[in-house]
This record gives sequence, C-alpha cells and structure tokens, in this order.
Amino acid sequence: MSWLACPDCHRALEGSRCSACDRVFLAEAGVLALRSRAAEASAAERHYLDLYQRTADPWAYEHLAVERLKAERVMALVDRLAPDGSLVVEAGCATGHITRRLVRRAVSAVVFDLVPQAVATTKALVPAPRADVEYVVASATELPLADGTVDLLLLLDGPLSWKLTEAQLRQVFDEAQRVVKPGGRVLVMDYLTPSKFPLLREAVVRSPLRLVAEHPFPDRLSYVLESMLRALRGLGVVRWFFSSSTVGRVLAALSKPFGHLGSKHVVLECERPHLPSQ
Ligand SMILES: C[S@@+](CC[C@H](N)C(=O)[O-])C[C@H]1O[C@@H](n2cnc3c(N)ncnc32)[C@H](O)[C@@H]1O
Ligand SMILES: [Zn+2]
Repeated sequence: MSWLACPDCHRALEGSRCSACDRVFLAEAGVLALRSRAAEASAAERHYLDLYQRTADPWAYEHLAVERLKAERVMALVDRLAPDGSLVVEAGCATGHITRRLVRRAVSAVVFDLVPQAVATTKALVPAPRADVEYVVASATELPLADGTVDLLLLLDGPLSWKLTEAQLRQVFDEAQRVVKPGGRVLVMDYLTPSKFPLLREAVVRSPLRLVAEHPFPDRLSYVLESMLRALRGLGVVRWFFSSSTVGRVLAALSKPFGHLGSKHVVLECERPHLPSQ
C-alpha cells in the first residue's frame, strides 16, 4: 500500500497518477517528483540544487562523529515516539544518514527531499529496498500526503535553515498539522547558535502545533572546534579527531552541563492537538 498523495488535492495516487485530479507526475533522477502545480523554483531550491552539483555529500555526515551522534540522538527520540507499525515521514533526507537508521526499524516511511539527486543517493545507499519505504522528491511546504495519516513527522535541519519566506515557514507547520494524526508528533530540529533557538520556538508557538518538550543536543563544543580547525582538516590527525566517536562523546560530556548553551541542535517535540483549541 502506498501512503503517497497528490500535493495539489491530497487524494491518493495510483502509481504516478492522481486518482482525483488525474495529474500525472514524472520522475526526476529516477525518483517520482511530487511537486504542486503552484511550485516554482525558488532561490532556496536553486541554492540546494547548486550545493549538490558541487558536492555529493555537502555536510560530510558519516565522516564526522558529531553528525553520527546527532543521528543516534534523533533515533532515540524516534524509537520512543514511533512504535512498530507507525508511519514516519522524513523531510529533507539529504544523502540518507538518518534514513539508513530509520529503515532498520519496523516502521513504514515516506522519505523526501527538495533535490532529486539527494533522494536518488539516499535510495541507492539504503542496503535493502523495502516496499513500505517510499522515496520521492517533494517540499516540506506542500506535503504529498493525505490528511491525518502520519504518526511522526521529522523536520530536521530544518525549517529555519531551509531559507524559506515567512509565509512558506507558516505553510510547513500548517502542512505538518494537516498530515499528522491528532495526537501524533512532529520533531522540529535545527542547527543554530543558542541565541537563535527562540526564533525556532516562536515559529512553533505561532503554529497550530503544541510544543511538548525541548531536547538540546550537547554538541556545540564539537562544532566550534571543527570550525576553528577547518583549515587543517587535510591533516590525518585532525580528520581522525573529528571522526572518532570516543572524542565525540568526550566533547558531548563537556558540553552537556551547559544545557541549551552547550548545544547547536535543539529538537522541539511537538504534537498535533486532538482539538484545534487545545
Ligand atoms: C542540512 S540537510 C539536513 C539533513 C538531515 N535531515 C539531517 O537532519 O541531518 C538539509 C536538507 O533539506 C533539504 N531541503 C531544503 N529545503 C527543503 C524543503 N523545503 N523541503 C524538503 N527538503 C528541503 C535540502 O535539500 C537538504 O538536503
Ligand atoms: Zn490531485
């Protein structure tokens, strides 16, 4: 069974055709592209397309221990919030470092990114294809999903970094509220300096979602050192330092007592309220 729906009318897809408005969707880089009719190539989209043209893995996710630890911390939240059989949706999958962990869980998934090449890489790097994990090109501003179908939506790194306009940012949260089941969860994470965390919190508080909890990750020291030593990253010892999980854990232990101040990633755990007024 497919969870995918038309991004225009939100009705079920039959293969690559909308069962209601009859629109036929095409593949890009071998992946079904579910863009709405109104979607225009924005400056933000061009930015991400250019980024992937220049480098296949723009954020060096698996190479850096801090990124692997980030993915593990995200998965600990996913494990708590998405019991077996849940539908999890991952927005902005990049090259799939979280997806590869997600597909080991007994959950169904819809995984997407704005950039076709990113989704194609994610799909290619997942070890064993599964019928209940679907990969598409789409935008978090126009989700290709039916109303009230999702148990857990992941908006990771993240709504503020995606270079959206104010209206598009509101659209991301309105779409989250539309597709998530009442009582279902949305994890909103971004990579920010702690002084910018209130901006993310305010965007959530203004939205129809309810903020349930905040989870700051203890990773600031790792990122600060990594950016200070970036000019030396060609040196073997520097590469080893930042790729070592042991070093990553020590730096995390040093950051942890500082709470939000020791953090570059904060996850806002949100809920779609059962009733709009709750
Ligand atoms: C920094 S990476 C985040 C990867 C991963 N989610 C994580 O947390 O590590 C951001 C990704 O979001 C994608 N992206 C940017 N704007 C988006 C949008 N409006 N909808 C879906 N994906 C988007 C980019 O193409 C990029 O691959
Ligand atoms: Zn349609």
